[in-house]
Amino acid sequence: MPCSVIVGAFWGDEGKGKIISYLALKDNLDLCVRTGSVNAAHTVWKNGQKYALHMVPAAFINEKCLLRVAAGANVHIPQFFKEVEMTHVQNRIGIDQNASIIEEKHSAQDKASAVNKGIGTTGWGVGPAVEERARRTAKLAKDMPELKPYVMDTVTEINNALDKGKKVLLEGTQGFMLSLFLSGGYPYVTSRDTGASAIASEAGVGPTRVDNVILVYKSFMTRVGAGPLPGEISKEEAQKRGWFETAAGTGRDRRSAPFDFDLARRNAKINGATQAALTKLDCMFPDCRSAQKFEDLSEDAKKFVKEVESRTGVPVVLIGTGPKALDIIDRRK
Ligand code: IMP
Ligand code: MG
Repeated sequence: MPCSVIVGAFWGDEGKGKIISYLALKDNLDLCVRTGSVNAAHTVWKNGQKYALHMVPAAFINEKCLLRVAAGANVHIPQFFKEVEMTHVQNRIGIDQNASIIEEKHSAQDKASAVNKGIGTTGWGVGPAVEERARRTAKLAKDMPELKPYVMDTVTEINNALDKGKKVLLEGTQGFMLSLFLSGGYPYVTSRDTGASAIASEAGVGPTRVDNVILVYKSFMTRVGAGPLPGEISKEEAQKRGWFETAAGTGRDRRSAPFDFDLARRNAKINGATQAALTKLDCMFPDCRSAQKFEDLSEDAKKFVKEVESRTGVPVVLIGTGPKALDIIDRRK
């Protein structure tokens, strides 16, 4: 703090929603800016209810936090309205005037082309919407009458908030291994750079203004859609280990693999990570469920956390031990 960037370390679905919701409550965030688009779902639990958010920032859980959709983001209007209503954030959410619009036709184009290319996109149409923006024929938020009550200059607002020392969180979506430029996984990637610098860029925040880059690792790795996954295990093996998941957004099976320390190290460096979060430790070590203190972890679990730190060179400051926002070990001072 005051300006933190949250980045997914692998292929998305690391549990960024949970980490953000914890920080929103614990650190009393003033402003949270969502980047990317509707292809990503962030899961947040509030009062026993599960929210899979594609548009509204995960910090909505703190009722005092202002919520913004970044200038670089792509807005799916029906999904935006649906979530605003569901989360009751009408009075504290805004969309940058220059954010672009993802339309129904983009989804149809995506579905038709994804089959051909075999990437296995989410089908929301983000790739075609980004193409259209690059061609400079996309609609922008400021062109849409129905968005009028929400449209604003978030870039000036965010930078003014930083001037005043407010606590701002830039919410990255998806994961670094889906980066169009930097993951090395092309073409099995998404249509944007998902790294820390790009997240700041989408929000309109210069690199020198970022204080903290929190890289979110999951205790094992998962991937949906096609493309390489080093060390991949079978669905049956994943079920046996308690790692089997389905996607929050699309409902597809997630493929899984054990934590890859070399990949974790590389991604920490390229993102300039200052801190790490490690989620779902309880899926690896069920005896850690709901633990709140590092001392309460089993020896094996502690050893794993220490190995993540020694091999990535980044301190693991937040450890997820269950789905609820407060199922966390916070090792920050
Ligand atoms: P697209 O982003 O819908 O074009 O999909 C491109 C690739 O990124 C596919 O393999 C998707 O499954 C994957 N992908 C996109 N967004 C997410 C996400 O939020 N979580 C996990 N995978 C994603
Ligand atoms: Mg997700």
